[in-house]
Amino acid sequence: MGKRKIPSDTVVLITGASSGIGKITAELLTKKGYRVYGTSRAPSSGQTSFTMLQMDVTDPVSIVKAVASLMEKENGIDVLVNNAGFGIGSAIEETELTMARKQFEVVFWGALQVARNVLPVMREQKHGLIINVSSIAGRMGLPYQGFYSSAKFAMEGLTEALSMEVKPFGIRLSLIEPGDMRTGFTSSREWLILENIESPYLKQIKKTKDIIDKNEIKGGDPAKVARKILHVIRKKHPGFRYVVGKPDEKAAVLLKGLLPFRWFERILSSFYGIK
Ligand SMILES: NC(=O)c1ccc[n+]([C@@H]2O[C@H](COP(=O)([O-])OP(=O)(O)OC[C@H]3O[C@@H](n4cnc5c(N)ncnc54)[C@H](OP(=O)(O)O)[C@@H]3O)[C@@H](O)[C@H]2O)c1
Repeated sequence: MGKRKIPSDTVVLITGASSGIGKITAELLTKKGYRVYGTSRAPSSGQTSFTMLQMDVTDPVSIVKAVASLMEKENGIDVLVNNAGFGIGSAIEETELTMARKQFEVVFWGALQVARNVLPVMREQKHGLIINVSSIAGRMGLPYQGFYSSAKFAMEGLTEALSMEVKPFGIRLSLIEPGDMRTGFTSSREWLILENIESPYLKQIKKTKDIIDKNEIKGGDPAKVARKILHVIRKKHPGFRYVVGKPDEKAAVLLKGLLPFRWFERILSSFYGIK
């Protein structure tokens, strides 16, 4: 985080803290003594160990209100974890642009808007850490998750550029890239499968969907991602990219960087049952 602070003086804002990675991260950081604020589009009345704020990352007014309400209680924001997200599954050719745009609204524009509301606070206090929760899908285009991958690629590019722009103000950025995790993400994914028309993709998309669902259901424990986020927050000089996943997922990221794309494409296609 640059300037080292003790947990009880460290304010952390985590978007999408009602479920999965965000929730478990908020709980872990609270347990470790951090001052945690989580967000949800519709916070439930149930008790959480951290303060929950209403925020829809696609609604600029709700972002302004949530940040203002946090700032009424605190002197600053030390860490922002841009975690809120969902995915669509679809054949690129058949995807309505409204759905493709919705994907970018949440994953890309949402994370950007939250960051832009927090950056003035961080610049004023001359320190801060923004952790963007990307995905290994942000490192390789995944078939039938093309818009999800594209939105995470966009997030990765923005994070690289922003990192250089805000470093002079003492603000650091890091990316967390989880592989498949067991969270609400799988059931929340919106599959756009055209059953009623003669879709040339129908058979393949169903086959690939089964593989994706199975991998996520037996995916990693999201607590692993939470522990990595804690590790990054604790570091005086955080690294930029952290892949959190099984050895084969880490190997895939490595191979993507090393192999000619045609070779890598063959491996990934066969993984997703595409001949
Ligand atoms: N699970 C995986 O396999 C996996 C792998 C790689 C990356 N990731 C990334 O990890 C992040 C967290 O996902 P998860 O796996 O923990 O999924 P999850 O269990 O479905 O949780 C998603 C969270 O995002 C929030 N959210 C969704 N749309 C929102 C919006 N428009 N505005 C504000 N909040 C919104 C949800 O809150 P409300 O519904 O309460 O608003 C929820 O708290 C996402 O960015 C995802 O892309 C997940």
